[in-house]
Amino acid sequence: MARTPTIGGNWKMNLDFDEAMELASGLRNRLGSHRGAESIIFPSFPYLRPVSQRLRDSAIAVGAQDLHTEASGAFTSGVTGTMIRSVGCTHVLIGHSERRTVFGDDDALVAKKLSVALTAGLIPVLCIGETLSEKEANQTFSVLARQLDTALRAHTPEALSTLICAYEPVWAIGTGLTATPEQAQEVHAWVRSHVRGLLGPTFAEQLRIQYGGSVKPANAAGLMSQPDIDGALVGGASLKAESFAEIVRAAR
Ligand code: 13P
Repeated sequence: MARTPTIGGNWKMNLDFDEAMELASGLRNRLGSHRGAESIIFPSFPYLRPVSQRLRDSAIAVGAQDLHTEASGAFTSGVTGTMIRSVGCTHVLIGHSERRTVFGDDDALVAKKLSVALTAGLIPVLCIGETLSEKEANQTFSVLARQLDTALRAHTPEALSTLICAYEPVWAIGTGLTATPEQAQEVHAWVRSHVRGLLGPTFAEQLRIQYGGSVKPANAAGLMSQPDIDGALVGGASLKAESFAEIVRAAR
């Protein structure tokens, strides 16, 4: 089955308002009517509504970088899935490694966030990946299995039909150290086969699995030419319209 490649731009905690709007305009000019790969950008919370307005009726979707698990109430600073939907977003990152390592989101909380994202009607991008010490201890597959099992086991394939998965080895994020296309392909093929065991062959075959970690225009085509790599989740190189657009164009 052909899977449409999907490129995410995770802006993380970068850009002031004017810079964010300029980047949104630059992306609209370059990719607004692009019909190849799908693109989704993940700006900071304060920019979600103006950025999604600027990208209205374009081919670029907008998502949030995180969400809270409760539906409403006294949770100062929390942002719910419904709020995110109401400002024009369609997607949300779940379990990004910086949420896991910097903010302490554990597997159980990530699983809860996935559930509330689905309930809110958002398309979840579930991020998984091993740290350098886990990789060096040969724990890559056991870590990924634990992350996938905890997040996915409560759901049916139907409930997860919109899911996108992002494999982001933590040692490759923001370090300039990218997994080689062959290394990344090996892990992606493993992820797909593990998901096959959890949710069945039809689900696994249509699941889009993005690679993330120092993806740039220079390495994007090589990574995305691999059979189980269905796009990229891009941090630093998504902060310039031209480099993000080059990565989207590299996805065939
Ligand atoms: P970099 O592309 O800056 O390594 O970030 C990857 C990432 O964390 C995307 O979510």
